[in-house]
Order: sequence, then structure tokens, then C-alpha cells
Amino acid sequence: MNVAIMGYGVVGSGVAEVLKKNHDSILKKSLQPSLDLKYILDIRDFPGDPNESLMIRDFNKILEDDSVRVVVETMGGLHPAFDFVSACLAAGKSVVSSNKELVAAKGDVLLQIAEEHNVNFLFEASVGGGIPILRPLSQCLAANEIYELYGILNGTTNFILTKMIDDGLDFDTVLRMAQANGYAEKDPTADVEGYDACRKICILASLIYGKHVYPEAVYTEGITGIDLADVEYAKSWGGVIKLIAMAKEVSENRISAMVCPSLVPACSQLANVNDVFNAILVRGDATGDVVFYGRGAGKLPTASAIVADIIDCCQHTRQKKSFGWKSSAENIVVDHLDQNTSLYIRASAEHTADALSAVRAAFGDVQVLSRKDAPADEIAFVTPVDTERALRTKLRTLHCIKPLSVLHIADC
Ligand code: HSE
Repeated sequence: MNVAIMGYGVVGSGVAEVLKKNHDSILKKSLQPSLDLKYILDIRDFPGDPNESLMIRDFNKILEDDSVRVVVETMGGLHPAFDFVSACLAAGKSVVSSNKELVAAKGDVLLQIAEEHNVNFLFEASVGGGIPILRPLSQCLAANEIYELYGILNGTTNFILTKMIDDGLDFDTVLRMAQANGYAEKDPTADVEGYDACRKICILASLIYGKHVYPEAVYTEGITGIDLADVEYAKSWGGVIKLIAMAKEVSENRISAMVCPSLVPACSQLANVNDVFNAILVRGDATGDVVFYGRGAGKLPTASAIVADIIDCCQHTRQKKSFGWKSSAENIVVDHLDQNTSLYIRASAEHTADALSAVRAAFGDVQVLSRKDAPADEIAFVTPVDTERALRTKLRTLHCIKPLSVLHIADC
């Protein structure tokens, strides 16, 4: 059986490397008489690369070659990835993808095409890099009603936040370090603005709840507004700031889902997930809390998940894996403003004592926070729990303070 890779970037080249390095054990596990990488599709030249002889530029070579039964898509982006993947599935080839943008936007459509042609479309590497999470969710935890999931799903932002907190480095320096290590997306906006984590929570929520959850329906906020002052207040509150993606069942057929920087209590299992590591906390009715932890980005961890999917495709050439993830015309995500939360608020105020009296009159019993060397006109507090809409309405009525930062408190 032959394999082709579309996209020879960091992850695609990692797949070629792992296939070569562990060829014998992978072949044995694949249950196939042979398993060889035949083509690598890319528009770029790679002179001197060990795989130079496999390079092609014409997608039709892969499509028309019946010996290629599994195609790896590591191109990223929606187009032409969607067109190529659809064509491969329709031609009876299984496809393995690490492309979260593609899976989050078109997972339902591609799974439908795969089903119609009795082939597999697998995408373990699209969430959590090297962490096994999609297969455990859809198989090992299948007996559970999963009522809540919290994740640190983006390695780049976790790396940036960790370095800002631990080493006091500035945002731009750390972002460049993440890009040099191959963690960050080509356009780091997707990382730092939370879009990458949003796509991943959509994939997880679609798998858990069985209906396609669209990224546009999920409230998403990135980490570009996080200031070292917030990091210090989070410490004095007893926690850390993490970019948290969450999905939660709120009623039959309705879920809450969002991505935002949040204060996480130090006692949470997610509080000590640092650097490029990701973690996913799953709350099932039978299992209780289960936490998955590991390298969420990078060449070889991601390649590990892709090659495992290739092996799975080889083992199931006549049997399609079913995820129960269907298209959905209706939006199943409720408005986050109607959900209960408490908020951390940092603000400036001309007269801080008067401002705090007004804050207490509006919100009730707030927890006032302090930090060393805070400017004289700065206050910070954590509100009691209420709907986010009610809390934000109250905040707007407080004309004596100017909000500088508003963050969620994560219940994880
Ligand atoms: N840019 C992504 C991250 C890569 O930093 O997590 C893995 O999806």
C-alpha cells in the first residue's frame, strides 16, 4: 500500500521522517504487506532534501494512482485543501488530516463524503498535536455523557503566557521564539487571537455532541490584551491566566462554548500546564474528571498522531470508522452572555476608595485584589457569580471607573 503527503511543511516533513525512521514497526502494525511513501505534493522546491525524488507538483498524480490508498493532508488552510481532500475521498482513498481549519469548517461534509465512499477521514492531529484525544473521546469515553470539557488547546499562546509569567519576557520576543520553534501558525493572528483554539474546541464539541459546531458561533477572545499587571493580580487571587477553551452541555441539544483568557485557580489540573504543552480536562458522568496532557504542537508530536491515523486507515481498509458527527443547520451554541460566571475586573479610578464603594454597591460582595507597586489610580476585583450580561450591564453603569481588563474566572 502506498501513502502520499500533501504539504511538506513542518508537520508534513515530520510525517515523512517518522514513516522512514519507524518503518518496520509501522509496517507490522499496519497489517499490510508493504507501506511506502510514494509522493509528496508541494509547490515549493526542496533541493538536497532526502525525499527530493518523491516531490510532485501535480495533484492529479496522487488522485489517479490507485496504489495510493492513504493521503495525508498537512497543507493547512481551506483551499485547495478542501477540494483535494474531497476529491481523494470521492476517489476511494482514505485521508488523514492535521488541518484544524479544514476540519472545524468542513468536518461534517468530509465525513459524509467518506461515508458515501466507504473510506476513512481521520484527524487526530488536528487537536492537541501528539495528545491522543479524539479517539479516546469517541471510543474509550463513549459510555459517558460528557457534560463539560476545558482545554488549553494552543501551544503558542500557552508558551507565550508561560514565558511572560515566569521570565517577564515581552509578548513580541516570545512570539518570535514560538515561530522559530515551528509552534505558531504561518499567520500568528490565528494563535494569539484565539481562532486556532476556537477551531479545536469546535472539533471537540462536534465530536462530543454529534452536531457540527461552527467557529463563527463560538465567542472567541485572544491574549493580545493581557498585561503583566493582570498576571500579578491573578497570582494574588491564587491562580494563573490561561487561554481556556470550553464546551458545556446546558440543555438537551444546546451547548455553551467559548475561548477566552481566564483566571484558573492554582488547584486546577490546568494551572500547571506550561510552555507548549496542551491539556484537556473532560468531565464525564461515569468517569468523573479525566485529563489528557502532552505536546500540543511541533513537528514530531503532531506527526506521531498522523502516522497513528495512517496505521488505523491501513488496518480498516474495508471498514469505515463512524464518529456520529452530522451536519446541523441550526446553531446549537447559546449566547455566552446568558451563562453564569464571575469576572475579574481591573480598572482605573480617580478616587479608588469611593470607586470601591460604588463597585460594592453595584456588584455586592466583591473580592478586592492587590499587587505590589500598583498605580494609585488602579483597582482590581473579582465579582460574585451572575450572568455575564448582568455583570457587564452593571459595569457599564459604573461611570466612576474605567475598565482596563475584564477576564473570566474558569470553573475548571
Ligand atoms: N499553532 C498551533 C499551536 C499548532 O500553537 O498550538 C498546533 O495546532
